[in-house]
Amino acid sequence: MTNNKTVLSWLDEMAAMTTPDEIVWIDGSEKQLEDLRAEAVSTGEMIQLNQEKLPGCYYHRTAENDVARVEDRTFICTPTEEEAGPVNNWMAPEQMYAKLKALYTGSMKGRTMYVIPYSMGPVGSPFSKIGIELTDSIYVVLNMAIMTRIGQKVLDQLGDSADFVKCLHAKKDVNPDERYIVHFPQDSTIWSINSAYGGNVLLGKKCFALRIASYLGKKEGWMAEHMLILGLENPQGEVKYICAAFPSACGKTNLAMLIPPEYLKEKGYKVWTVGDDIAWLRIGKDGRLYAINPEAGFFGVAPGTSEKTNFNALESAKKNTIFTNVAINNADNTVWWEGLDKNPPEDCTEWTGKLVNGKTYEGKLAHPNSRFTAPAINCPCISSEFENPEGVPVSAIVFGGRRAKTAPLVYQARDWQHGVFVGATMASETTAAAAGAVGVVRRDPMAMKPFVGYNMADYFAHWIEMGKKMDADKAPKIFHVNWFRQDENGNFIWPGFGDNMRVLLWILDRCEGKKDAVESPIGYLPKKEDLDVNNLDIDDATMEELLTVDKAVWLEDVENQEQYFAQFGDRLPKEIKEELETLKKNLSK
Ligand code: PEP
Ligand code: NA
Ligand code: MN
Repeated sequence: MTNNKTVLSWLDEMAAMTTPDEIVWIDGSEKQLEDLRAEAVSTGEMIQLNQEKLPGCYYHRTAENDVARVEDRTFICTPTEEEAGPVNNWMAPEQMYAKLKALYTGSMKGRTMYVIPYSMGPVGSPFSKIGIELTDSIYVVLNMAIMTRIGQKVLDQLGDSADFVKCLHAKKDVNPDERYIVHFPQDSTIWSINSAYGGNVLLGKKCFALRIASYLGKKEGWMAEHMLILGLENPQGEVKYICAAFPSACGKTNLAMLIPPEYLKEKGYKVWTVGDDIAWLRIGKDGRLYAINPEAGFFGVAPGTSEKTNFNALESAKKNTIFTNVAINNADNTVWWEGLDKNPPEDCTEWTGKLVNGKTYEGKLAHPNSRFTAPAINCPCISSEFENPEGVPVSAIVFGGRRAKTAPLVYQARDWQHGVFVGATMASETTAAAAGAVGVVRRDPMAMKPFVGYNMADYFAHWIEMGKKMDADKAPKIFHVNWFRQDENGNFIWPGFGDNMRVLLWILDRCEGKKDAVESPIGYLPKKEDLDVNNLDIDDATMEELLTVDKAVWLEDVENQEQYFAQFGDRLPKEIKEELETLKKNLSK
């Protein structure tokens, strides 16, 4: 399929180490993928679901010890520990290579190695980057075929170039004690072993499109961010684009596929999805910031997805989708998960493969992190610009978190530098859903804590540098939102979901200079009357509470911010320190 010498000699080297019985190149043809589906079904690796109700859909369950990303086993192996920074695990590259070579040696004996050429971003786009993943898992091949652009066309695009990311995955025996997700940014290399769970093994996603790409972005002057991209169309038919970063479990996929409230829909407002997880950002020739979604599919969390919470995601997963670790409704061989509806099937196989009358996992039929892998083109609100090789111009960048008391519903940063600080101080409070104490503040700068491929302090500096390369009137405006504000009884006071559109409209009005704002110690707040709450059951006092900045609560948060930043020592950019001092001063006035 290729004469590329770099590709072929690397493949020889990896095959000599892992010793597969056979090597199969993935050409991207439907025929080859169909044969692989049939093979996976014949070995039990996948289950074919009801082909009338869920055409082209399959089911897979992972090992019970292998159901999520493993941050404690994820490494950034830069030459020095400083380069990886305090929020990443690090080991010296030569030491890690030696350790992993021992694990990979002979690991594919008796198995087939698949060679998956893939493109992150539309093939041939100036934003796009190529990877080749070697794996011994058909499940990985079939997921990569949904999540990325794969096959011969990618090799043709690569030609003789050595500019590709070398990805190696071996499932081995899924031993959690020898599980490693390792990045060698200087070598454009990713090695993953002893897992078969999405985020650990679909190496184009978190490993390449965020960790390696953030490193490349720093080197090459662009950005790889953990952001959704959506287009908001007004009644005049103009579309403005917003990128938004939230930590896990804040509803990123839901926001990306938002359905406007009836009242705004009738006026002619629409939302278009460009991406739900990752944005690659570049400064265009006109000096504005442009975004592409490097992915071709959605790897979404199933539980909580329903017609009400995310109709578009549910529609996306009705054909040609792979379900992982959800429950199976045995009555009709379809799928079920908590939150889909209120009727758990009686005759049901839970995610572990046991019948429902056996033990359930913490009382759940589907694993809380069970997933659907769905082609983006299935999405009813997919943007017409989804395949645009030039990307879409970004008007606003939105940061968010889950905060009971601190952050107001929305505020705007004063300028780019302040906006970087707002992103750097992003945080979320833990919920009862996760193990551990409730209400503990976890700082997650730009939602990139698990995904930054180099020193987080240098990443802040890169953000500041990017701002300096754009004129203030062309750079996106930066905002912070909080859909999770609570009253004193712990009830959410903002309705969320589709009504979040009302906040997005204020954000875009601000970008266009159509609305005034109120200055506050933390940035610009909306004037109460400027948020469109028509047809919403929300009183004046609640609106006021949503927009309150409690100085005492904020001063407490500032202390926490300061402690967090201390780990970066002298590497922390002076601009971040400046902004911290300004915030302290503003709050003490
Ligand atoms: C993943 O775990 O593969 C993944 C996509 O993670 P998250 O949902 O946290 O972004
Ligand atoms: Na995850
Ligand atoms: Mn994500």
